[in-house]
Amino acid sequence: MRRWSLIVYQKLAALGGNFFRIEWIFFVALYNFRQLELNPLPRRRLKESQALVTGASSGIGREIALQLATAGAHVLAVARRQNRLDDLVTEFHSLRDSQPKSKTGANDKAGSITPISGDLTIESDRQRWADWCQTNWGGLDILVNNAGSGAIGRFDTSSPERVRKLMEVDFFGPVELTRACLPLLKQRSKTNRPAIVMVGSVLAHRAVPLKSEYCAAKFALRGWAESLRCELAGERIEVLQIDPTTTRSEFLDSLIDTPAGTKSESIGSMSPQRVATLTIQAIERSKRRMVLSVGGRLLLSASRWFPGIVDRILSR
Ligand SMILES: NC(=O)c1ccc[n+]([C@@H]2O[C@H](COP(=O)([O-])OP(=O)(O)OC[C@H]3O[C@@H](n4cnc5c(N)ncnc54)[C@H](OP(=O)(O)O)[C@@H]3O)[C@@H](O)[C@H]2O)c1
Repeated sequence: MRRWSLIVYQKLAALGGNFFRIEWIFFVALYNFRQLELNPLPRRRLKESQALVTGASSGIGREIALQLATAGAHVLAVARRQNRLDDLVTEFHSLRDSQPKSKTGANDKAGSITPISGDLTIESDRQRWADWCQTNWGGLDILVNNAGSGAIGRFDTSSPERVRKLMEVDFFGPVELTRACLPLLKQRSKTNRPAIVMVGSVLAHRAVPLKSEYCAAKFALRGWAESLRCELAGERIEVLQIDPTTTRSEFLDSLIDTPAGTKSESIGSMSPQRVATLTIQAIERSKRRMVLSVGGRLLLSASRWFPGIVDRILSR
């Protein structure tokens, strides 16, 4: 493709003289730069890779765990509800058994899922997960920081506990789990290209009313992740930020400290399967930032160009 763009440039330059030449140098350089930006590295291999996925008992995390294992990865699936993690393993086994087998009778592609329950906000639980990876795998290729919780309601009537609880789950939890896993990821960076994936939100870019604590936590996580990405670049560890919009999951059923009857008005929604598929693609293709829906991207563009109007619409 680059060769073709160069040939076209030469033809046009011959036709049009210096004016065309300067214009085309700019476009060809921009095109090639975009190619480098979009496809900087070869695809990441998921088969046989080892991944820790938080919040794997429901919604997006459950689907990410399932799709990673189906692609051949070995997954440590963590969340508080052990029974839900066990259900995930059962579903994975029946999926794996329904896949075509090779001549030896083995299913060559499928990986595995190991469930370990625990609370992301408790240090000993985070360390237990990291220790398990060290003992059983001797390192870690992919860490998916997906677990999260929300809260709805005005800030002026909320309790100080609400913001603290939310920051524990949505910010301090993933930050400290990453700290515990960094030595494991670094062990793999000599041979592989490990990745840390943050499942953020479109609300990590544009805050909305009645979700001030959640927006603050997601903004904080994105800011921290951006800094970490630059710090770890020299060590071949990638930090990827995936920002879904409204997704059909149990998210709104498990809100923290939300007054009864408070409703969230969310327009449009994606399936957790779709979010997981896009997340896996981002992992394979090393996409550093992804806002997953068209609606989300439109909201962000509108906020950038017409912040006052968007503020007024959201304030109604
Ligand atoms: N749903 C949406 O509309 C939406 C939109 C944008 C971004 N997101 C983000 O996507 C991520 C996944 O959310 P989801 O939609 O899949 O919601 P979900 O179905 O409610 O799943 C949340 C997961 O997080 C786990 N979790 C919550 N608190 C935890 C804790 N203290 N310790 C360990 N695990 C904990 C839950 O497991 P246990 O309860 O078993 O512990 C559950 O597996 C979150 O980070 C969320 O902010 C969601």
